[in-house]
Amino acid sequence: MSQHAERLARELAGIETFLRQETERLPELVRPVAAHVLDAGGKRFRPMLTVLFARLLGHASDDVFPLAASLEFLHSATLLHDDILDGASLRRGKAAAHVVFSRTETILAGDALLALSNRLVADYGIPRMVAMLSEAVLRTVVGEIEEIAACRELDLDEAGYLSIITGKTAFLIQAAAGVGALLARAPDETVTRAEEFGLNMGIAFQLVDDALDYTSPPEVSGKPAGSDLREGKLTLPLLGYLGSLPADGRADLLARIKEKSLSDAEIEAVVAAIRADGHADATRERAAQYVAQAERCLDGLPAGWAAEVLRESLRYVLARQK
Ligand code: FPP
Ligand code: MG
Repeated sequence: MSQHAERLARELAGIETFLRQETERLPELVRPVAAHVLDAGGKRFRPMLTVLFARLLGHASDDVFPLAASLEFLHSATLLHDDILDGASLRRGKAAAHVVFSRTETILAGDALLALSNRLVADYGIPRMVAMLSEAVLRTVVGEIEEIAACRELDLDEAGYLSIITGKTAFLIQAAAGVGALLARAPDETVTRAEEFGLNMGIAFQLVDDALDYTSPPEVSGKPAGSDLREGKLTLPLLGYLGSLPADGRADLLARIKEKSLSDAEIEAVVAAIRADGHADATRERAAQYVAQAERCLDGLPAGWAAEVLRESLRYVLARQK
């Protein structure tokens, strides 16, 4: 990103300033919970995508920052709730909000951030923008429900897995790109292209996340190693590994995952086998296919610095180690 570092730093400062300003204005009971998740070192990936698509499509005004910030508030809301649903006590290397604050406070702070995000978007007076984000939230929730249902049933195939990650992660990233295009008053076809870019990037993002869960050391990821396995999540690296086992071994391991009865040593052994047998690498290769599809969406859109950064961010999605 070095070539455009100054421009990006300026956009990021705009996002951060607005996030801080709105967080400070939150009611006192919500503010510390919101600040806890917002100050935890997120990459601001979704708001930046909104800004980049707005800029790419000719929208130069600083009025993009509330819209961009609304994506980060929304994402933060989902994380507050997600750590409760997953029983996760660490987020980005720090205690999860529900561990520091009460569960009730954390759930309600998530609801408050969701509402704040809605209000920020509604203030633009562009109904399609509100509809796009509301639809994305709805699909995100459905993805999360599908994932929880799959943990209970444990008979997930690859199509089911892709549906879950598209739901829980990619639709919000799709909307992040789409609302940037809407703000720029881009024609329908361009808005669709932006959304398609975000959708494919989002799927790739989650595939890499799921690969990293098996390969990233805890001191880098800020999460315990093999978190997904512990949480009973059948992500693609694990599905690949399960598929390579003889039927009885597969059934036994699935049952143990479902009962959450694997010891730490057994979890470590499965994590090591998944890594050694190349299932995490294979998941990254799948991600590369979605990245290539996202890249094709940029063809036919205007060239310029924002397009270059979008291409670089696709490479970053694939290369990231945490
Ligand atoms: C993280 O996935 C979770 C999500 C991307 C979505 C969570 C969505 C909800 C809880 C429902 C929507 C809630 C609101 C307030 C609209 P992960 O658990 O695989 O990743 P992680 O390792 O970062 O936790
Ligand atoms: Mg989680």
